Amino acid sequence: MKKAYKISVAITSILIALITIVACSSTKEVYTPVPDTEVASSEEEFKIEKSGAQLWGEVCNRCHIAPSPADYNDTDWETISLHMRVRANLTEKESKKIEEFLKSAN
Ligand code: HEC
Repeated sequence: MKKAYKISVAITSILIALITIVACSSTKEVYTPVPDTEVASSEEEFKIEKSGAQLWGEVCNRCHIAPSPADYNDTDWETISLHMRVRANLTEKESKKIEEFLKSAN
């Protein structure tokens, strides 16, 4: 009985060691590498397709609660857009879309 126990412990240890070796030595690529340029351009396209309202909901909620379009007038939104474009690191296109949405909805 004791011997059988020792053998099963030995077999289990060997199995664990083997699984570890196989798992850690696997060099198989789990994803297909995509060139950086492709990633960048597809992200850009994705952003461009979003509407001003969508961008406002996503971007302007990141750091603080997104202000309602009604909170400011058109002139204020122009200034705020310039300010928040820098803060949020937006492209001119994204910033303009958000600004247009905010102005259209106040
Ligand atoms: C990276 C973080 C960040 C993002 C993203 C961001 N804001 Fe801000 N926002 C701030 C900070 C910080 C302040 C406080 C004023 C300051 O120090 O710039 C602020 C202040 C404001 C104010 C107060 C008036 C002002 O100009 O200071 C408004 C309105 C505003 N944000 C609107 C927006 C809108 C609209 C967006 C989406 C385009 C946005 N914010 C996205 C960080 C952010």
